[in-house]
Amino acid sequence: MSNDVKSLMRADAKKLQPGDAHYSAYVGPPQHYDFMGASQFRLLTTLGLRDHHRLLDFGCGSLRAGRLFIPYLLPGNYYGIEPNKWLIEEAIEKEVGRDQIRIKQPHFSHNSDFDSRVFGVKFNFIVAQSIFSHCGADLIEAALAGFRDVLEDDGLVLATFVHLGAAGLNEEFTDKGWAYPRCVAYRPETILGFIRSAGLVGDWIPWRHWQDWYMIGRTRAALPHKSSFGHLTGVVLRDRELSAGL
Ligand SMILES: C[S@@+](CC[C@H](N)C(=O)[O-])C[C@H]1O[C@@H](n2cnc3c(N)ncnc32)[C@H](O)[C@@H]1O
Repeated sequence: MSNDVKSLMRADAKKLQPGDAHYSAYVGPPQHYDFMGASQFRLLTTLGLRDHHRLLDFGCGSLRAGRLFIPYLLPGNYYGIEPNKWLIEEAIEKEVGRDQIRIKQPHFSHNSDFDSRVFGVKFNFIVAQSIFSHCGADLIEAALAGFRDVLEDDGLVLATFVHLGAAGLNEEFTDKGWAYPRCVAYRPETILGFIRSAGLVGDWIPWRHWQDWYMIGRTRAALPHKSSFGHLTGVVLRDRELSAGL
């Protein structure tokens, strides 16, 4: 990893490419590091995330969202899985601070097995942003099976996928494994099939993102009714770039 790139201040890293070796770029476009975290925080708090809930941030990267969730939740309630340990270390050093870690006691696992059972607890919310956009069916199936096992009966999973046709991706991904930093796409029917095969239920929701958000639960009763989806827009006012869409 180039030390020159890695040691840039975040304000000076905004022109790097997604996947570059800076904590704010490895996880996506560095100019959207702030917004992509805020958007996840807004989505989960709109859906009822409270401080006493346990949250799993699956593939938490450089705590783009974790740096907002960790202070919000009560101590011990934030759980992150991220095999690239350096991303969390950089985020603690440059964004979160050791005091916050001492006070809020988040839990981290660096396993790369797509296994969320490692903590031995159940979650009220699981967020997986920009993870399945890099996964073959084998990894999506493994991750969703784990989510089913660790999700509370009334819990919610929020996960993004890329729909076929978005971002110039016109072929459905049929390989196995992890593809990064490029993205892979699936048809909505294929995505709903992954969810069903895992014994879960889910819906596409209209929360704004250049990827597509799905809300997933153990039963239909756990999911907000479609009549409330008008509240799930993620719209941003007064920012020319974000209000025009990503
Ligand atoms: C596009 S980034 C998204 C990070 C984070 N969810 C966010 O929104 O900022 C994808 C993340 O998945 C992580 N990742 C790679 N392999 C993984 C695995 N086996 N299990 C969990 N996360 C993984 C990468 O290291 C990277 O941090």
